[in-house]
Amino acid sequence: MSDIEIMQKLSPRRNTTEATDAPSLVDEQLRHFGIDPQSEFGASLAKITLHLYAAQVDTEALWNQTLQSMVQLERTEKIARFNAKKFLSFQLAKLLDTSQNSFRRSYQRIGCTTTSKLTKGPYPVFDNVTAIFSATPVITRTATYIYACAEWIEDAFQGKELLLEIYSRLLNPTSVTLANHIVDIEAGPYTSEYFAWNFSSGMAAIDGVLSHVLGRDDMLIQSRNIYGGAHQLIHDWYAKPSNLGIGVVTFDGHDAADFDEALEETRKRYADRLAQGRKAYVYLESPCNPHGYVLDVPGICKRAHAAGLEVILDATVGTPFLQLPLQRDDPEERPDYLIHSYTKDLSGTGTVIAGCVIGRMEKMFLPKGMEGWQQTMFWNVYYVKGAFLAADLAFEVMQGMRTLEVRMLAKCINTVILARFLDAHPSINVHCNALPEDDNAEAMRGQHFLGLPAPLFTIDIDGVSRVAFQRFFDSLAPMFGHMISLGQSNTIVSCPALTTHSELDESGLTAAGIRPTTIRMAVGDEDPRDLIRHFVDAALLAIEPLHPGFCAEFMPPEDTHELIREWYLDTHRRYIESKTES
Ligand SMILES: Cc1ncc(COP(=O)(O)O)c(C=O)c1O
Repeated sequence: MSDIEIMQKLSPRRNTTEATDAPSLVDEQLRHFGIDPQSEFGASLAKITLHLYAAQVDTEALWNQTLQSMVQLERTEKIARFNAKKFLSFQLAKLLDTSQNSFRRSYQRIGCTTTSKLTKGPYPVFDNVTAIFSATPVITRTATYIYACAEWIEDAFQGKELLLEIYSRLLNPTSVTLANHIVDIEAGPYTSEYFAWNFSSGMAAIDGVLSHVLGRDDMLIQSRNIYGGAHQLIHDWYAKPSNLGIGVVTFDGHDAADFDEALEETRKRYADRLAQGRKAYVYLESPCNPHGYVLDVPGICKRAHAAGLEVILDATVGTPFLQLPLQRDDPEERPDYLIHSYTKDLSGTGTVIAGCVIGRMEKMFLPKGMEGWQQTMFWNVYYVKGAFLAADLAFEVMQGMRTLEVRMLAKCINTVILARFLDAHPSINVHCNALPEDDNAEAMRGQHFLGLPAPLFTIDIDGVSRVAFQRFFDSLAPMFGHMISLGQSNTIVSCPALTTHSELDESGLTAAGIRPTTIRMAVGDEDPRDLIRHFVDAALLAIEPLHPGFCAEFMPPEDTHELIREWYLDTHRRYIESKTES
Protein backbone atom coordinates (compact mmCIF):
# COMPACT_ATOMS: atom_id res chain seq x y z
CA MET A 1 0.00 0.00 0.00
CA SER A 2 1.40 3.45 -0.89
CA ASP A 3 1.80 6.20 1.72
CA ILE A 4 -1.12 8.17 0.32
CA GLU A 5 -3.37 5.09 0.49
CA ILE A 6 -2.37 4.56 4.12
CA MET A 7 -3.05 8.22 4.91
CA GLN A 8 -6.42 8.18 3.16
CA LYS A 9 -7.67 5.66 5.74
CA LEU A 10 -7.46 8.44 8.31
CA SER A 11 -9.47 10.90 6.23
CA PRO A 12 -13.21 11.57 6.72
CA ARG A 13 -13.39 11.19 2.95
CA ARG A 14 -11.31 8.02 2.84
CA ASN A 15 -13.31 6.54 -0.06
CA THR A 16 -14.05 9.70 -2.08
CA THR A 17 -11.05 11.92 -1.44
CA GLU A 18 -9.51 13.92 -4.25
CA ALA A 19 -6.40 14.77 -2.25
CA THR A 20 -3.05 13.50 -3.51
CA ASP A 21 -0.74 14.23 -0.59
CA ALA A 22 -0.78 14.88 3.14
CA PRO A 23 -1.28 18.70 3.01
CA SER A 24 -4.21 18.42 0.61
CA LEU A 25 -5.75 15.66 2.79
CA VAL A 26 -5.49 18.00 5.77
CA ASP A 27 -7.01 20.89 3.84
CA GLU A 28 -9.87 18.67 2.66
CA GLN A 29 -10.50 17.41 6.19
CA LEU A 30 -10.74 20.91 7.64
CA ARG A 31 -13.15 22.06 4.95
CA HIS A 32 -15.21 18.87 5.43
CA PHE A 33 -15.97 20.02 8.99
CA GLY A 34 -16.43 23.67 8.06
CA ILE A 35 -13.08 24.92 9.40
CA ASP A 36 -11.26 27.69 7.55
CA PRO A 37 -7.62 26.55 7.15
CA GLN A 38 -6.54 30.20 7.06
CA SER A 39 -8.02 30.96 10.49
CA GLU A 40 -5.88 30.79 13.63
CA PHE A 41 -7.77 27.72 14.89
CA GLY A 42 -7.64 26.18 11.40
CA ALA A 43 -3.86 26.61 11.26
CA SER A 44 -3.41 24.91 14.68
CA LEU A 45 -5.72 22.07 13.75
CA ALA A 46 -3.99 21.63 10.40
CA LYS A 47 -0.61 21.35 12.11
CA ILE A 48 -1.77 18.56 14.42
CA THR A 49 -3.64 16.77 11.64
CA LEU A 50 -0.56 16.78 9.42
CA HIS A 51 1.39 15.07 12.22
CA LEU A 52 -1.35 12.47 12.52
CA TYR A 53 -1.29 11.59 8.82
CA ALA A 54 2.49 11.11 9.07
CA ALA A 55 2.06 9.08 12.27
CA GLN A 56 -0.46 6.81 10.49
CA VAL A 57 2.15 5.95 7.84
CA ASP A 58 4.83 5.34 10.50
CA THR A 59 2.52 3.19 12.63
CA GLU A 60 1.72 1.02 9.64
CA ALA A 61 5.46 0.67 8.94
CA LEU A 62 6.01 -0.39 12.56
CA TRP A 63 3.35 -3.09 12.18
CA ASN A 64 5.00 -4.42 9.03
CA GLN A 65 8.39 -4.46 10.73
CA THR A 66 6.87 -6.33 13.66
CA LEU A 67 5.35 -8.94 11.36
CA GLN A 68 8.66 -9.52 9.59
CA SER A 69 11.01 -9.53 12.56
CA MET A 70 9.06 -10.97 15.49
CA VAL A 71 9.94 -14.63 14.96
CA GLN A 72 13.72 -14.37 15.10
CA LEU A 73 13.95 -11.89 17.99
CA GLU A 74 15.68 -12.72 21.26
CA ARG A 75 13.40 -12.76 24.29
CA THR A 76 15.09 -9.68 25.72
CA GLU A 77 14.38 -7.81 22.47
CA LYS A 78 10.74 -8.89 22.62
CA ILE A 79 10.46 -7.51 26.16
CA ALA A 80 12.10 -4.24 25.10
CA ARG A 81 9.75 -3.86 22.15
CA PHE A 82 6.68 -4.71 24.18
CA ASN A 83 7.46 -2.04 26.75
CA ALA A 84 8.38 0.55 24.13
CA LYS A 85 5.01 -0.05 22.46
CA LYS A 86 3.18 -0.04 25.77
CA PHE A 87 4.69 3.35 26.46
CA LEU A 88 3.74 4.51 22.96
CA SER A 89 0.12 3.61 23.78
CA PHE A 90 0.29 5.84 26.82
CA GLN A 91 1.74 8.64 24.72
CA LEU A 92 -1.07 8.32 22.19
CA ALA A 93 -3.60 8.23 25.02
CA LYS A 94 -1.95 11.27 26.54
CA LEU A 95 -2.48 13.10 23.27
CA LEU A 96 -6.12 12.03 23.29
CA ASP A 97 -6.52 13.00 26.91
CA THR A 98 -4.97 16.41 26.32
CA SER A 99 -7.23 16.99 23.34
CA GLN A 100 -10.23 16.04 25.50
CA ASN A 101 -9.95 19.38 27.33
CA SER A 102 -10.73 21.47 24.30
CA PHE A 103 -13.22 18.87 23.04
CA ARG A 104 -15.13 18.94 26.33
CA ARG A 105 -15.12 22.73 26.35
CA SER A 106 -16.62 22.82 22.84
CA TYR A 107 -19.28 20.35 23.93
CA GLN A 108 -20.15 22.45 26.94
CA ARG A 109 -20.30 25.64 24.86
CA ILE A 110 -22.74 24.28 22.28
CA GLY A 111 -25.36 24.85 24.92
CA CYS A 112 -28.60 22.98 25.34
CA THR A 113 -31.32 22.77 27.93
CA THR A 114 -31.14 20.64 31.08
CA THR A 115 -33.92 18.52 29.59
CA SER A 116 -31.75 17.60 26.62
CA LYS A 117 -28.64 17.10 28.74
CA LEU A 118 -30.47 14.68 31.02
CA THR A 119 -32.05 12.81 28.16
CA LYS A 120 -28.81 12.40 26.26
CA GLY A 121 -26.84 11.37 29.34
CA PRO A 122 -23.15 12.19 29.68
CA TYR A 123 -21.04 12.41 26.54
CA PRO A 124 -18.70 9.60 27.54
CA VAL A 125 -15.72 9.94 25.19
CA PHE A 126 -13.94 12.45 27.43
CA ASP A 127 -13.80 10.07 30.36
CA ASN A 128 -13.58 6.79 28.48
CA VAL A 129 -10.03 7.57 27.34
CA THR A 130 -8.43 6.80 30.69
CA ALA A 131 -10.50 3.60 30.95
CA ILE A 132 -8.24 2.13 28.24
CA PHE A 133 -5.81 1.47 31.07
CA SER A 134 -8.24 -0.21 33.42
CA ALA A 135 -6.35 -3.16 34.94
CA THR A 136 -9.20 -5.54 34.10
CA PRO A 137 -11.16 -5.59 30.84
CA VAL A 138 -13.63 -2.73 30.72
CA ILE A 139 -17.25 -3.88 30.78
CA THR A 140 -18.56 -2.04 27.76
CA ARG A 141 -22.24 -1.92 28.49
CA THR A 142 -23.62 -0.30 25.43
CA ALA A 143 -25.89 -1.29 22.60
CA THR A 144 -24.19 1.01 20.13
CA TYR A 145 -21.10 3.16 19.58
CA ILE A 146 -20.30 6.70 18.51
CA TYR A 147 -19.00 6.61 14.98
CA ALA A 148 -16.47 8.91 13.35
CA CYS A 149 -18.17 9.94 10.11
CA ALA A 150 -20.33 8.61 7.27
CA GLU A 151 -17.54 6.98 5.25
CA TRP A 152 -15.95 5.26 8.24
CA ILE A 153 -19.25 3.73 9.32
CA GLU A 154 -19.96 2.70 5.73
CA ASP A 155 -16.66 0.76 5.87
CA ALA A 156 -17.52 -0.63 9.30
CA PHE A 157 -20.65 -2.21 7.82
CA GLN A 158 -18.41 -3.95 5.29
CA GLY A 159 -16.14 -5.28 8.03
CA LYS A 160 -13.35 -2.98 6.82
CA GLU A 161 -13.15 -0.70 9.87
CA LEU A 162 -12.97 -2.65 13.10
CA LEU A 163 -12.37 0.45 15.23
CA LEU A 164 -16.07 1.20 14.89
CA GLU A 165 -17.95 -1.63 16.55
CA ILE A 166 -21.39 -0.45 15.36
CA TYR A 167 -23.64 -2.58 17.56
CA SER A 168 -23.02 -4.89 20.50
CA ARG A 169 -24.90 -7.81 18.98
CA LEU A 170 -22.04 -7.96 16.45
CA LEU A 171 -18.95 -6.71 18.24
CA ASN A 172 -18.27 -5.51 21.76
CA PRO A 173 -14.84 -4.73 23.26
CA THR A 174 -15.33 -6.89 26.36
CA SER A 175 -16.48 -9.85 24.34
CA VAL A 176 -13.66 -9.32 21.83
CA THR A 177 -11.15 -9.33 24.72
CA LEU A 178 -12.47 -12.70 25.81
CA ALA A 179 -12.39 -14.02 22.23
CA ASN A 180 -8.74 -12.93 21.88
CA HIS A 181 -7.92 -14.41 25.28
CA ILE A 182 -9.39 -17.85 24.56
CA VAL A 183 -7.53 -17.93 21.22
CA ASP A 184 -4.25 -17.03 22.99
CA ILE A 185 -4.79 -19.90 25.39
CA GLU A 186 -6.08 -22.53 22.97
CA ALA A 187 -3.83 -21.81 20.01
CA GLY A 188 -0.60 -20.82 21.82
CA PRO A 189 2.16 -20.45 19.20
CA TYR A 190 -0.45 -20.51 16.42
CA THR A 191 -2.54 -17.67 17.91
CA SER A 192 -2.19 -15.43 14.87
CA GLU A 193 -3.77 -18.13 12.69
CA TYR A 194 -6.97 -18.47 14.74
CA PHE A 195 -10.02 -16.40 15.62
CA ALA A 196 -12.99 -16.92 17.95
CA TRP A 197 -16.59 -15.81 18.20
CA ASN A 198 -18.39 -15.83 21.53
CA PHE A 199 -21.99 -16.93 21.83
CA SER A 200 -24.70 -16.48 24.42
CA SER A 201 -24.46 -20.20 25.38
CA GLY A 202 -22.53 -23.35 24.57
CA MET A 203 -25.59 -24.58 22.68
CA ALA A 204 -25.69 -21.37 20.62
CA ALA A 205 -22.00 -21.99 19.79
CA ILE A 206 -22.78 -25.57 18.69
CA ASP A 207 -25.74 -24.36 16.66
CA GLY A 208 -23.60 -21.56 15.25
CA VAL A 209 -20.99 -23.89 13.84
CA LEU A 210 -23.47 -26.53 12.66
CA SER A 211 -25.62 -23.98 10.90
CA HIS A 212 -22.46 -22.53 9.37
CA VAL A 213 -21.27 -25.77 7.78
CA LEU A 214 -24.40 -27.86 7.22
CA GLY A 215 -26.60 -27.47 4.19
CA ARG A 216 -29.74 -29.33 3.18
CA ASP A 217 -29.23 -33.12 2.95
CA ASP A 218 -25.63 -32.93 4.17
CA MET A 219 -24.33 -35.60 6.54
CA LEU A 220 -22.87 -35.57 10.02
CA ILE A 221 -20.66 -38.35 11.35
CA GLN A 222 -21.15 -37.92 15.06
CA SER A 223 -19.40 -39.44 18.05
CA ARG A 224 -21.90 -41.34 20.18
CA ASN A 225 -21.58 -39.89 23.65
CA ILE A 226 -22.29 -36.22 23.31
CA TYR A 227 -24.14 -33.75 25.52
CA GLY A 228 -27.89 -34.50 25.38
CA GLY A 229 -28.75 -30.99 24.20
CA ALA A 230 -26.36 -31.33 21.26
CA HIS A 231 -27.85 -34.75 20.47
CA GLN A 232 -31.33 -33.23 20.46
CA LEU A 233 -30.26 -30.32 18.26
CA ILE A 234 -28.66 -32.64 15.70
CA HIS A 235 -31.38 -35.30 15.66
CA ASP A 236 -34.53 -33.28 16.31
CA TRP A 237 -33.70 -30.15 14.36
CA TYR A 238 -30.97 -30.68 11.77
CA ALA A 239 -32.08 -34.21 10.81
CA LYS A 240 -35.78 -33.31 10.65
CA PRO A 241 -36.89 -33.60 7.00
CA SER A 242 -38.79 -30.31 7.13
CA ASN A 243 -35.66 -28.56 8.41
CA LEU A 244 -32.31 -29.57 6.84
CA GLY A 245 -32.93 -33.32 6.65
CA ILE A 246 -29.28 -34.14 7.36
CA GLY A 247 -28.17 -37.76 7.55
CA VAL A 248 -26.51 -38.82 10.81
CA VAL A 249 -24.10 -41.69 11.31
CA THR A 250 -22.93 -42.42 14.84
CA PHE A 251 -19.65 -43.97 15.94
CA ASP A 252 -17.72 -44.53 19.20
CA GLY A 253 -14.43 -42.94 18.27
CA HIS A 254 -12.39 -44.24 21.19
CA ASP A 255 -10.21 -45.71 18.48
CA ALA A 256 -9.63 -43.85 15.20
CA ALA A 257 -10.33 -47.05 13.23
CA ASP A 258 -14.00 -46.67 14.29
CA PHE A 259 -14.08 -43.62 12.11
CA ASP A 260 -13.15 -45.57 8.97
CA GLU A 261 -16.19 -47.79 9.52
CA ALA A 262 -18.46 -44.79 10.08
CA LEU A 263 -17.13 -43.14 6.93
CA GLU A 264 -17.69 -46.34 4.96
CA GLU A 265 -21.22 -46.57 6.38
CA THR A 266 -21.87 -42.93 5.38
CA ARG A 267 -20.63 -43.57 1.85
CA LYS A 268 -22.91 -46.60 1.56
CA ARG A 269 -26.00 -45.19 3.24
CA TYR A 270 -25.84 -41.80 1.57
CA ALA A 271 -24.27 -42.68 -1.80
CA ASP A 272 -27.01 -40.78 -3.65
CA ARG A 273 -26.52 -37.63 -1.61
CA LEU A 274 -22.74 -37.75 -2.03
CA ALA A 275 -23.21 -38.25 -5.78
CA GLN A 276 -25.27 -35.05 -5.81
CA GLY A 277 -22.41 -33.16 -4.20
CA ARG A 278 -23.76 -33.09 -0.63
CA LYS A 279 -21.03 -32.95 2.00
CA ALA A 280 -20.23 -34.85 5.17
CA TYR A 281 -18.78 -33.34 8.39
CA VAL A 282 -17.53 -34.85 11.63
CA TYR A 283 -18.83 -33.83 15.07
CA LEU A 284 -16.91 -34.96 18.17
CA GLU A 285 -17.15 -34.39 21.90
CA SER A 286 -13.99 -35.32 23.84
CA PRO A 287 -13.69 -35.94 26.72
CA CYS A 288 -17.32 -36.88 26.45
CA ASN A 289 -20.47 -36.95 28.52
CA PRO A 290 -21.27 -38.74 30.73
CA HIS A 291 -18.27 -41.07 31.39
CA GLY A 292 -15.46 -38.57 30.68
CA TYR A 293 -14.01 -40.91 28.06
CA VAL A 294 -11.51 -39.57 25.55
CA LEU A 295 -11.76 -40.09 21.79
CA ASP A 296 -8.76 -40.44 19.51
CA VAL A 297 -9.22 -36.86 18.34
CA PRO A 298 -5.87 -36.48 16.52
CA GLY A 299 -6.34 -39.84 14.77
CA ILE A 300 -9.92 -39.05 13.72
CA CYS A 301 -8.96 -35.56 12.49
CA LYS A 302 -6.17 -37.01 10.40
CA ARG A 303 -8.41 -39.61 8.79
CA ALA A 304 -11.28 -37.15 8.27
CA HIS A 305 -8.97 -34.60 6.65
CA ALA A 306 -7.47 -37.24 4.37
CA ALA A 307 -11.04 -37.92 3.21
CA GLY A 308 -11.69 -34.17 2.75
CA LEU A 309 -14.00 -33.77 5.77
CA GLU A 310 -13.97 -30.94 8.30
CA VAL A 311 -14.04 -31.76 12.02
CA ILE A 312 -15.92 -29.97 14.80
CA LEU A 313 -14.83 -30.71 18.38
CA ASP A 314 -16.73 -29.85 21.54
CA ALA A 315 -13.76 -29.58 23.94
CA THR A 316 -15.78 -28.25 26.90
CA VAL A 317 -15.18 -31.05 29.38
CA GLY A 318 -11.37 -31.19 29.09
CA THR A 319 -10.75 -27.44 29.10
CA PRO A 320 -7.36 -26.14 27.91
CA PHE A 321 -5.90 -27.42 31.19
CA LEU A 322 -6.17 -31.04 30.07
CA GLN A 323 -5.88 -30.80 26.29
CA LEU A 324 -4.82 -28.34 23.60
CA PRO A 325 -6.10 -29.87 20.34
CA LEU A 326 -5.26 -26.78 18.25
CA GLN A 327 -1.60 -26.98 19.25
CA ARG A 328 -0.84 -30.37 17.70
CA ASP A 329 2.36 -30.13 15.63
CA ASP A 330 0.67 -31.73 12.66
CA PRO A 331 -2.13 -29.39 11.44
CA GLU A 332 -3.94 -32.43 10.00
CA GLU A 333 -4.48 -33.64 13.58
CA ARG A 334 -6.22 -30.44 14.64
CA PRO A 335 -9.99 -29.98 14.52
CA ASP A 336 -11.27 -27.26 12.18
CA TYR A 337 -13.67 -25.81 14.73
CA LEU A 338 -13.29 -26.06 18.49
CA ILE A 339 -16.27 -25.36 20.74
CA HIS A 340 -16.41 -24.47 24.43
CA SER A 341 -19.32 -24.02 26.73
CA TYR A 342 -17.79 -21.33 28.98
CA THR A 343 -20.65 -22.15 31.35
CA LYS A 344 -18.63 -25.11 32.66
CA ASP A 345 -15.09 -25.18 34.00
CA LEU A 346 -13.76 -22.25 32.03
CA SER A 347 -15.87 -19.80 34.03
CA GLY A 348 -16.10 -22.33 36.85
CA THR A 349 -18.57 -20.42 38.97
CA GLY A 350 -21.92 -21.71 37.76
CA THR A 351 -23.13 -18.14 37.37
CA VAL A 352 -22.77 -17.68 33.62
CA ILE A 353 -24.21 -19.25 30.48
CA ALA A 354 -21.85 -18.65 27.56
CA GLY A 355 -19.93 -20.36 24.75
CA CYS A 356 -17.49 -19.89 21.88
CA VAL A 357 -16.25 -21.31 18.59
CA ILE A 358 -12.59 -21.09 17.58
CA GLY A 359 -11.49 -21.67 14.00
CA ARG A 360 -8.85 -20.68 11.50
CA MET A 361 -8.90 -16.97 10.74
CA GLU A 362 -9.90 -17.37 7.09
CA LYS A 363 -12.89 -19.52 8.08
CA MET A 364 -14.05 -17.13 10.79
CA PHE A 365 -13.78 -13.61 9.34
CA LEU A 366 -12.81 -11.76 6.19
CA PRO A 367 -13.84 -8.20 5.27
CA LYS A 368 -16.74 -7.98 2.81
CA GLY A 369 -15.61 -8.27 -0.77
CA MET A 370 -12.45 -10.31 -0.10
CA GLU A 371 -12.44 -13.67 -1.81
CA GLY A 372 -14.42 -16.15 0.29
CA TRP A 373 -15.89 -13.57 2.72
CA GLN A 374 -19.41 -14.96 2.36
CA GLN A 375 -18.19 -18.39 3.49
CA THR A 376 -16.78 -17.07 6.78
CA MET A 377 -18.64 -17.81 9.96
CA PHE A 378 -19.07 -14.11 10.76
CA TRP A 379 -21.06 -13.19 7.67
CA ASN A 380 -22.71 -16.55 7.13
CA VAL A 381 -24.02 -17.02 10.66
CA TYR A 382 -22.87 -14.66 13.32
CA TYR A 383 -23.89 -11.39 11.73
CA VAL A 384 -27.38 -12.61 10.96
CA LYS A 385 -28.28 -14.81 13.94
CA GLY A 386 -27.76 -12.59 16.96
CA ALA A 387 -26.62 -14.98 19.70
CA PHE A 388 -23.84 -12.67 20.88
CA LEU A 389 -22.40 -12.76 24.40
CA ALA A 390 -23.16 -9.74 26.59
CA ALA A 391 -20.24 -7.72 27.99
CA ASP A 392 -21.03 -8.42 31.67
CA LEU A 393 -20.98 -12.15 31.05
CA ALA A 394 -17.81 -12.02 28.96
CA PHE A 395 -16.20 -10.20 31.88
CA GLU A 396 -17.37 -12.84 34.33
CA VAL A 397 -16.00 -15.65 32.17
CA MET A 398 -12.60 -13.93 32.12
CA GLN A 399 -12.62 -13.53 35.89
CA GLY A 400 -13.39 -17.22 36.30
CA MET A 401 -10.70 -18.31 33.85
CA ARG A 402 -7.97 -16.79 36.01
CA THR A 403 -8.22 -19.70 38.42
CA LEU A 404 -8.77 -22.48 35.86
CA GLU A 405 -5.47 -24.27 36.52
CA VAL A 406 -5.75 -24.55 40.27
CA ARG A 407 -9.40 -25.55 40.09
CA MET A 408 -8.81 -28.18 37.45
CA LEU A 409 -5.77 -29.60 39.19
CA ALA A 410 -7.75 -30.10 42.41
CA LYS A 411 -10.73 -31.54 40.53
CA CYS A 412 -8.70 -34.01 38.51
CA ILE A 413 -6.90 -35.27 41.62
CA ASN A 414 -10.26 -35.64 43.39
CA THR A 415 -11.54 -37.59 40.40
CA VAL A 416 -8.71 -40.12 40.63
CA ILE A 417 -9.24 -40.47 44.39
CA LEU A 418 -13.02 -40.88 44.18
CA ALA A 419 -12.85 -43.29 41.24
CA ARG A 420 -10.28 -45.49 43.00
CA PHE A 421 -12.10 -45.38 46.33
CA LEU A 422 -15.43 -46.35 44.77
CA ASP A 423 -13.88 -48.96 42.48
CA ALA A 424 -12.49 -50.76 45.53
CA HIS A 425 -16.10 -51.64 46.53
CA PRO A 426 -17.07 -54.94 44.87
CA SER A 427 -20.66 -53.83 44.10
CA ILE A 428 -19.76 -50.48 42.56
CA ASN A 429 -18.81 -50.40 38.87
CA VAL A 430 -16.82 -47.32 38.03
CA HIS A 431 -16.56 -46.08 34.45
CA CYS A 432 -13.56 -43.80 34.58
CA ASN A 433 -10.38 -43.68 32.56
CA ALA A 434 -8.43 -42.81 35.72
CA LEU A 435 -8.54 -46.52 36.56
CA PRO A 436 -5.48 -48.24 35.07
CA GLU A 437 -7.48 -51.22 33.78
CA ASP A 438 -10.12 -49.07 32.07
CA ASP A 439 -10.25 -49.55 28.27
CA ASN A 440 -9.96 -45.81 27.78
CA ALA A 441 -7.04 -45.26 30.20
CA GLU A 442 -4.29 -45.38 27.60
CA ALA A 443 -6.07 -43.02 25.18
CA MET A 444 -6.59 -40.57 28.05
CA ARG A 445 -2.97 -40.72 29.18
CA GLY A 446 -1.82 -40.12 25.61
CA GLN A 447 -3.80 -36.89 25.24
CA HIS A 448 -4.27 -35.35 28.69
CA PHE A 449 -1.88 -33.16 30.67
CA LEU A 450 -0.13 -35.29 33.35
CA GLY A 451 -2.34 -38.20 32.28
CA LEU A 452 -5.13 -36.81 34.45
CA PRO A 453 -8.78 -37.71 33.86
CA ALA A 454 -11.53 -35.18 33.14
CA PRO A 455 -13.51 -34.48 36.31
CA LEU A 456 -16.44 -36.52 35.05
CA PHE A 457 -17.27 -40.21 35.41
CA THR A 458 -20.13 -42.59 36.08
CA ILE A 459 -20.89 -45.39 38.51
CA ASP A 460 -23.42 -48.21 38.62
CA ILE A 461 -24.28 -49.95 41.87
CA ASP A 462 -24.99 -53.68 41.47
CA GLY A 463 -27.35 -55.76 43.55
CA VAL A 464 -29.15 -52.84 45.20
CA SER A 465 -32.94 -52.54 44.97
CA ARG A 466 -34.47 -49.56 43.19
CA VAL A 467 -35.94 -48.32 46.48
CA ALA A 468 -32.55 -48.44 48.21
CA PHE A 469 -30.88 -46.81 45.21
CA GLN A 470 -33.33 -43.91 45.11
CA ARG A 471 -33.12 -43.35 48.87
CA PHE A 472 -29.34 -43.40 48.59
CA PHE A 473 -29.29 -41.01 45.63
CA ASP A 474 -31.60 -38.59 47.43
CA SER A 475 -29.34 -38.68 50.51
CA LEU A 476 -26.22 -37.62 48.64
CA ALA A 477 -26.94 -33.89 49.21
CA PRO A 478 -25.45 -31.59 50.31
CA MET A 479 -21.86 -32.84 49.74
CA PHE A 480 -22.91 -34.07 46.29
CA GLY A 481 -25.09 -31.34 44.83
CA HIS A 482 -28.36 -32.38 43.26
CA MET A 483 -27.71 -30.23 40.20
CA ILE A 484 -27.24 -30.71 36.50
CA SER A 485 -24.51 -28.40 35.22
CA LEU A 486 -21.04 -29.94 35.30
CA GLY A 487 -17.94 -27.77 35.61
CA GLN A 488 -18.72 -25.89 38.80
CA SER A 489 -16.40 -25.78 41.81
CA ASN A 490 -18.74 -28.11 43.74
CA THR A 491 -19.30 -31.80 43.07
CA ILE A 492 -22.67 -32.67 41.59
CA VAL A 493 -24.50 -35.93 40.88
CA SER A 494 -27.17 -36.69 38.34
CA CYS A 495 -28.84 -39.63 36.63
CA PRO A 496 -28.05 -39.12 32.92
CA ALA A 497 -30.91 -41.42 31.82
CA LEU A 498 -33.40 -39.09 33.51
CA THR A 499 -31.70 -35.79 32.75
CA THR A 500 -28.86 -34.86 30.38
CA HIS A 501 -29.32 -37.94 28.19
CA SER A 502 -33.11 -38.33 28.48
CA GLU A 503 -33.31 -37.54 24.75
CA LEU A 504 -31.80 -40.97 23.96
CA ASP A 505 -34.13 -43.94 23.51
CA GLU A 506 -33.48 -47.25 25.30
CA SER A 507 -31.14 -48.65 22.64
CA GLY A 508 -29.31 -45.32 22.47
CA LEU A 509 -28.85 -45.39 26.24
CA THR A 510 -27.54 -48.94 26.16
CA ALA A 511 -25.12 -48.12 23.34
CA ALA A 512 -23.94 -45.11 25.36
CA GLY A 513 -23.33 -47.32 28.40
CA ILE A 514 -26.02 -45.60 30.47
CA ARG A 515 -28.37 -47.55 32.74
CA PRO A 516 -31.51 -46.14 34.43
CA THR A 517 -29.53 -46.10 37.71
CA THR A 518 -26.22 -44.83 36.34
CA ILE A 519 -24.95 -41.93 38.45
CA ARG A 520 -22.85 -39.26 36.76
CA MET A 521 -20.41 -37.47 39.03
CA ALA A 522 -19.07 -34.11 37.96
CA VAL A 523 -16.29 -33.68 40.48
CA GLY A 524 -15.53 -30.40 42.23
CA ASP A 525 -12.62 -29.13 44.26
CA GLU A 526 -13.86 -29.92 47.76
CA ASP A 527 -11.77 -31.76 50.32
CA PRO A 528 -12.02 -35.39 49.07
CA ARG A 529 -12.30 -36.65 52.66
CA ASP A 530 -15.65 -34.85 53.00
CA LEU A 531 -16.93 -36.34 49.76
CA ILE A 532 -15.91 -39.86 50.74
CA ARG A 533 -17.26 -39.57 54.29
CA HIS A 534 -20.61 -38.35 53.01
CA PHE A 535 -20.86 -41.05 50.36
CA VAL A 536 -20.33 -43.74 53.01
CA ASP A 537 -22.78 -42.08 55.43
CA ALA A 538 -25.48 -41.86 52.75
CA ALA A 539 -24.96 -45.57 52.03
CA LEU A 540 -25.23 -46.34 55.77
CA LEU A 541 -28.48 -44.42 55.91
CA ALA A 542 -30.14 -45.70 52.75
CA ILE A 543 -28.52 -48.96 51.55
CA GLU A 544 -27.25 -50.71 54.66
CA PRO A 545 -30.70 -51.28 56.29
CA LEU A 546 -31.94 -53.05 53.12
CA HIS A 547 -28.64 -54.69 52.15
CA PRO A 548 -26.75 -55.46 55.37
CA GLY A 549 -22.98 -55.69 54.97
CA PHE A 550 -22.86 -53.25 52.00
CA CYS A 551 -20.91 -50.61 53.91
CA ALA A 552 -18.36 -53.02 55.36
CA GLU A 553 -16.97 -53.42 51.85
CA PHE A 554 -15.82 -49.81 51.42
CA MET A 555 -12.07 -49.18 51.47
CA PRO A 556 -10.86 -48.99 55.10
CA PRO A 557 -10.12 -45.46 56.43
CA GLU A 558 -6.34 -45.95 56.69
CA ASP A 559 -6.15 -47.08 53.04
CA THR A 560 -8.36 -44.15 52.01
CA HIS A 561 -6.06 -41.77 53.84
CA GLU A 562 -3.04 -43.23 52.07
CA LEU A 563 -4.81 -43.03 48.68
CA ILE A 564 -5.54 -39.33 49.16
CA ARG A 565 -2.02 -38.59 50.40
CA GLU A 566 -0.36 -40.48 47.59
CA TRP A 567 -2.36 -38.85 44.78
CA TYR A 568 -2.12 -35.35 46.18
CA LEU A 569 1.65 -35.57 46.61
CA ASP A 570 2.38 -37.44 43.41
CA THR A 571 0.24 -35.25 41.15
CA HIS A 572 1.57 -32.02 42.62
CA ARG A 573 5.11 -33.29 42.22
CA ARG A 574 4.45 -34.13 38.56
CA TYR A 575 2.72 -30.76 38.07
CA ILE A 576 5.73 -28.87 39.41
CA GLU A 577 8.10 -31.05 37.39
CA SER A 578 6.13 -30.31 34.21
CA LYS A 579 6.71 -26.60 34.86
CA THR A 580 10.44 -26.99 35.39
CA GLU A 581 10.76 -29.16 32.28
CA SER A 582 9.30 -26.51 29.97
C1 LIG B 1 -20.11 -30.95 26.79
C2 LIG B 1 -21.13 -29.87 26.72
N1 LIG B 1 -21.18 -29.09 25.62
C3 LIG B 1 -22.08 -28.11 25.51
C4 LIG B 1 -23.00 -27.86 26.50
C5 LIG B 1 -23.99 -26.75 26.32
O1 LIG B 1 -23.53 -25.58 26.93
P1 LIG B 1 -24.51 -24.45 27.51
O2 LIG B 1 -25.24 -25.03 28.66
O3 LIG B 1 -23.57 -23.33 27.85
O4 LIG B 1 -25.45 -24.08 26.41
C6 LIG B 1 -23.00 -28.62 27.65
C7 LIG B 1 -23.98 -28.33 28.73
O5 LIG B 1 -24.19 -29.02 29.64
C8 LIG B 1 -22.03 -29.66 27.77
O6 LIG B 1 -21.99 -30.45 28.86
